[in-house]
Amino acid sequence: MTRNRVESYGAFAYAYDKALGQRFFKSVRRLLRESLDKYPVRGAKTHLDVACGTGLAVDFFRAEGWRSVGVDASLPMLQMARGRAPQLVAGDYRALPFRAPFARITCLYDSLNHLKDRVELASAFRSMRRLMGPDSLLLFDMNHPDIYPAVWGMREPFVATGRDYHLEIATTWRKREGIGHALVTGWADLPGSERVEIHERHEQRAYREREIVESLTDANLAPVEILDFDPYDESGTVDAEGVKLFFVCRAKS
Ligand SMILES: C[S@@+](CC[C@H](N)C(=O)[O-])C[C@H]1O[C@@H](n2cnc3c(N)ncnc32)[C@H](O)[C@@H]1O
Repeated sequence: MTRNRVESYGAFAYAYDKALGQRFFKSVRRLLRESLDKYPVRGAKTHLDVACGTGLAVDFFRAEGWRSVGVDASLPMLQMARGRAPQLVAGDYRALPFRAPFARITCLYDSLNHLKDRVELASAFRSMRRLMGPDSLLLFDMNHPDIYPAVWGMREPFVATGRDYHLEIATTWRKREGIGHALVTGWADLPGSERVEIHERHEQRAYREREIVESLTDANLAPVEILDFDPYDESGTVDAEGVKLFFVCRAKS
């Protein structure tokens, strides 16, 4: 089989879905269901999934009877989402291309840790706040900051292999800047295509809970609940006070 570097991001989206996205979603689904039960919707069941990736949350909300739209900045991710989600939009979460409010907005799997500073984080929250009415809720998770030195600082790469993909994620942690760096390599046999090589880099910034709450306040949002969330039962095996933080927020009037 020939190898092709040009389409590498599409191959990562495919391997991401199989190795990471579906696994994470299995776990976060419980929190979503609990929040839907705990905070029943009053009006129209409208949902926006911000940074929707491969469309797993859109699929979940639609199965629960919601009208759901996904938005993401990555065309390969949106391409992968097409099989699950009929309504998808390309866009940046700091300037969301919608007008009408949504009853529920989600932003899952540490998608907001991709933002490099607090100003950017507040601008993403502001953009979501503009799409919220008095009864809307924003549900999102971000990485607990301890997870960066404890997991991103590890020497061994994360490795996942399936029948049609192989993924290796080697991470480093720059404590002074609070930035984690990931080098993603591997390959995927895309359906109906040849084997495609994966080679890309990602960065994430660690935020303390206090910084996240301050950024929410800057955007006129208020947390209703902040939960510790451990999608892979890592507590006890890593030297960290927490793994992820899951927020439920309302718009302040
Ligand atoms: C770790 S994935 C999570 C995807 C999905 N939420 C899930 O749970 O599988 C992070 C996603 O954030 C998206 N993303 C990163 N920066 C973005 C931005 N500025 N605007 C919109 N999406 C962004 C990426 O394209 C990617 O799909």
